[in-house]
Amino acid sequence: MMNTENNAPSKVVAISGGTSGLGFAVALGFCEAGYQTCLISRNEEQGEMAQFELSRAGFGSYFFKCDVRNENEVESTYLKIFNQFQRLDSAINCAGILDSGNGVNLTESEFDDVISTNLKGTWLSMKYQVPIMKKTGQGNIVNIASILAFHGSSGNSAYVASKHGIIGLTKTFALENLNFNIRVNAIAPGFLDTPMLDRIFQKNPDKRRKIQNLMKTKKFIPLNNVTKSVLWLCSTESASINGQCIVVDEGLTAGYSL
Ligand SMILES: NC(=O)c1ccc[n+]([C@@H]2O[C@H](COP(=O)([O-])OP(=O)(O)OC[C@H]3O[C@@H](n4cnc5c(N)ncnc54)[C@H](OP(=O)(O)O)[C@@H]3O)[C@@H](O)[C@H]2O)c1
Repeated sequence: MMNTENNAPSKVVAISGGTSGLGFAVALGFCEAGYQTCLISRNEEQGEMAQFELSRAGFGSYFFKCDVRNENEVESTYLKIFNQFQRLDSAINCAGILDSGNGVNLTESEFDDVISTNLKGTWLSMKYQVPIMKKTGQGNIVNIASILAFHGSSGNSAYVASKHGIIGLTKTFALENLNFNIRVNAIAPGFLDTPMLDRIFQKNPDKRRKIQNLMKTKKFIPLNNVTKSVLWLCSTESASINGQCIVVDEGLTAGYSL
């Protein structure tokens, strides 16, 4: 597929978790920006639905069924992407899950599941994204962290630990790839109205109102505002930014006003 404006081959982006919530909004943003967009997640039906929604907006896309916790699946997914496109311009590591319940009540498997998805999944994805980017001499990786990469949150110990860890991975991969024209940054969104939080609100409807009341606008962060920040980090306009995490939370975590 060619970019019709300048006859250059279209850029390629891979988005883990691209079939739902924030990842889907990011996928739509990259489609609109002319990228060939690869959606990566476990549930095929959800993948087909996401592709259908993108096609209704006028865009083709590619779906790769992959569990980011599993190295063999991640390796073969990026091999398929390389074989199909011979390039990977941007990669957004957005697949994530939440835990529920205080740390003392979590089971070992719940803790492992969150860490394996959010933290190990981000590492494994970068492990196989970077070699493709090295082959073409350039690339941008954006890891999706959270405001909980900088704060604690009762009832979310594994999630908080995983998101703190993503900041460390981001900085380290940025340093390790400084000489390869590959930038690695992170975005830390505030509260987003996505299926992830909706599952909590269904059990505890009061939480939606409580979260909204925390926000200056009394609304969740628009997904499109996060998408724009991700796209900016993947553009030459942010060329000197590397190993950083940009918080997109309307100032929620900036500090106190007394
Ligand atoms: N919602 C918020 O308020 C908020 C705030 C800050 C940061 N974030 C972060 O934003 C990211 C997206 O969250 P969201 O709110 O958009 O959640 P979501 O709607 O639940 O989407 C999560 C996505 O991750 C995929 N996924 C989960 N486990 C996976 C695995 N093992 N392998 C591959 N894909 C997997 C899911 O697809 P399958 O289940 O089909 O695999 C789905 O596409 C997460 O990293 C989350 O931590 C969210």
